[in-house]
Amino acid sequence: MQIIRNPLEWQQQTSTHRQAGRSIGFVPTMGALHEGHLSLIHQSKQENDITCTSIFVNPAQFDNPEDLENYPVTWDDDIVALEAAGLDMLLYPAQGSMYPDNYTYKVVEQELSREFCGEFRSGHFDGVLTVVTKLLNLTHADRAYFGEKDWQQLVLLRRMAEAFFMETDIVPCPTVRADSGLALSSRNENLTPDERRIAPWLYKIISSEMTVAEMRETLEGKGFRVEYLKEFEDRESKKRLLAAVYLGNVRLIDNVER
Ligand code: PAF
Repeated sequence: MQIIRNPLEWQQQTSTHRQAGRSIGFVPTMGALHEGHLSLIHQSKQENDITCTSIFVNPAQFDNPEDLENYPVTWDDDIVALEAAGLDMLLYPAQGSMYPDNYTYKVVEQELSREFCGEFRSGHFDGVLTVVTKLLNLTHADRAYFGEKDWQQLVLLRRMAEAFFMETDIVPCPTVRADSGLALSSRNENLTPDERRIAPWLYKIISSEMTVAEMRETLEGKGFRVEYLKEFEDRESKKRLLAAVYLGNVRLIDNVER
């Protein structure tokens, strides 16, 4: 596996693969890899000649400096997992190299990005859309893979790719869950043992037959602080129920078809 730290070198290498007629699948991540990320890599390996990943904890998408500081970093384990998965290329950008402009240029969406998570995490999706645009410009990918756990992110990225006539297909991949039903997330690393026991209730409750009001009450009774619990409908897919909750300091999101 090749590890590249210079974005321009990465751009050159991916361009060479593309020119040689090799298809490229890309899985952008912020590290702290789990089975969810690895499932995206496996899918990419089945569908492309070359599979690339990036590990970049993107400061621009954190509205809260403490959240950025506490974001889990598991570099050694990540490398072992990527090698075992048979990854071809990893972009691990050097400090400062992704924002030569100091983040003075941004990709901004003005409607959906202000709702759901966007209502509570100011500027979060500007950061996500901007960094993914940069990563796609660098990677020349035929396909980029994103998990359905981040449903709002996925919809925004799919619409952005359409809006900017991007050449990369945005491929949605099903949420990977623990046996308990808990959606895998890098943030689960920060749950205490007690919180870990409670966390699977999130999925159990939102996938139940209860009304949204009953769900909220039941979640609060279990010790969750509910940030939002709201239905989302778009032209491309069936209605979903999207949820963001806190257990202690850990923010968890999940969604189900409604
Ligand atoms: O979903 C994530 O891990 C991040 O938002 C992404 C897409 C890698 C952009 O930093």
